[in-house]
Amino acid sequence: MSEAPRSEAPSAVPPASVVLVSGGSRGLGLAIVTDLLAAGLKVAAFARTVTPELTALGEKYPDHLHYGSVDVNDSAAGQAFVRDVENALGPIDALVNNAAIGQDSLHVHTSAEHLAEIIQTNLTSPLILTRFVLRRMLAKGLKGRIVNITSICAQRGYPGLVAYSATKGGMDAATRSLARELGGRILANAVAPGFFASEMSAVLGQTQLDQIVRRTPTGHLTEPEDVLPVVRMLLLENTNLNGQVLVIDGAASI
Ligand SMILES: NC(=O)c1ccc[n+]([C@@H]2O[C@H](COP(=O)([O-])OP(=O)(O)OC[C@H]3O[C@@H](n4cnc5c(N)ncnc54)[C@H](OP(=O)(O)O)[C@@H]3O)[C@@H](O)[C@H]2O)c1
Repeated sequence: MSEAPRSEAPSAVPPASVVLVSGGSRGLGLAIVTDLLAAGLKVAAFARTVTPELTALGEKYPDHLHYGSVDVNDSAAGQAFVRDVENALGPIDALVNNAAIGQDSLHVHTSAEHLAEIIQTNLTSPLILTRFVLRRMLAKGLKGRIVNITSICAQRGYPGLVAYSATKGGMDAATRSLARELGGRILANAVAPGFFASEMSAVLGQTQLDQIVRRTPTGHLTEPEDVLPVVRMLLLENTNLNGQVLVIDGAASI
């Protein structure tokens, strides 16, 4: 008996080679930039303020790192930066949307202006940047990868983080629809960490941190180092993961 004809499988998305990381100046973004450079990738990073740590990486990897001061909410500056990156490193084939601002205010005490700033920075601007990068990738016939850094706050409730959580849930939802829309040519996934120590989470008091640790079966807070291998996998490995939100919180939220 002859075998049923098989539809031709689309060829796999190759590992990323030039990755743009927003908010790569400190915290998780800086850790991602450092990790990808060590893995041999070409990396572009921006934030509003270029830190000494990012400058030092630029000195260590002059041919592999391109960085600059860009506000993600300034789309013209972001687009100019993308063009500069392409001139310096070659076409971008992966984007890590990591830049975001936190929140530490009850919803009833959050001004309309502050709400708009959180939504602009964490949701609207990343979508505009994604659109711009995607258009260039598709125009060049490239396959590629998108990794959105979201948060466990999109799935579980936390006081003081209403607008922030809404933006992260929005990015999770956008990730799923991007994956469908891009038809496997560009893989889109999200990584949702639990709380980790950074400037953003510095608002949490020791009592709150102790409470999270007590609720965490693995007995420790998430570290940026726990997140790095997952981001690296999504950028480099052939896994057929697409449209997923990978939670990294030691099962604190389960
Ligand atoms: N820390 C946590 O507990 C936690 C938990 C789950 C998820 N996350 C997510 O993980 C990601 C990284 O967080 P983190 O804790 O590492 O934060 P962080 O230390 O505050 O770093 C945020 C980065 O984003 C940049 N950024 C902020 N606003 C920007 C803007 N308008 N334009 C360009 N860059 C901007 C910052 O640089 P500038 O301020 O100089 O612009 C910085 O490089 C975020 O998406 C966050 O939502 C964090």
